[in-house]
Amino acid sequence: MSIAKKEYKRVTTKSLVDMKRTGEKISMLTAYDYTMAKIVDGAGVDVILVGDSASNVMAGHETTLPITLDQMIYHASSVIRAVNRALVVVDLPFGTYQSDPKEALRSAIRIMKESGAHSVKLEGGKEVKESIKRILNAGIPVMGHLGLTPQSIYKFGTYTVRAKEEQEAEQLKEDALMLEKIGCFGIILEKIPAELAKEVADSVSIPVIGIGAGNGVDGQVLVLPDMIGMTHEFNPRFLRRYMNLYEDMTKAISQYVTDVKNVDFPSDTEQY
Ligand code: KIV
Repeated sequence: MSIAKKEYKRVTTKSLVDMKRTGEKISMLTAYDYTMAKIVDGAGVDVILVGDSASNVMAGHETTLPITLDQMIYHASSVIRAVNRALVVVDLPFGTYQSDPKEALRSAIRIMKESGAHSVKLEGGKEVKESIKRILNAGIPVMGHLGLTPQSIYKFGTYTVRAKEEQEAEQLKEDALMLEKIGCFGIILEKIPAELAKEVADSVSIPVIGIGAGNGVDGQVLVLPDMIGMTHEFNPRFLRRYMNLYEDMTKAISQYVTDVKNVDFPSDTEQY
């Protein structure tokens, strides 16, 4: 189905609300470095997330917990230098906003000041409400993140679908309404039943972006290295791979090794 797209020279938090109102779906992808962000922005993605998934896909950690605020600022400033159109959202990493609202604000200010990002995202509902309010009061746009929140992986114990039970689903719906009420500009819903995600998206006026949350929401986000098939060990049902870069790069690099060994590279025309 194709929907008429309005041209946004620069995507802002207001453009996203506009898109939701007019029924235009929002495209969002992660990026962590200048070169990739340039491609993602140039291809017309609306929102670029400098996700703490950098901890997994860039640094090779098993979880998102180890990445630091300094490392997130490094990734975010590389992305910001590349971007002309997309709205850039940066994850507040684990341990930089949960303990108290003042620390949360200090962390968000560092991201905004030192990277030039446009907004921040943090995980959780009522338990982080005061931190979110403090950040919003300083004029920093905040995106919420509910459902599977990877920074709490040791509490959940697994990466399976969240909010299948009624009690958790009710809490999630309450949290989403609260995030809208206090002024968040959007919400990520990760790995929850599609029906619940649609109900949440229909109940709030701010955009709801899903990952593993079906197509009844206002937009979709994927982790870029997964989406382009650079990674190949992670295969959740919700992931659509648009390329198989793992295979293509392996072939190209093996060919390079062969060419170097055989003195086929560089050729006469590839030297001075
Ligand atoms: O860090 C990340 O990439 C995320 C997405 C999975 C939404 O939070």
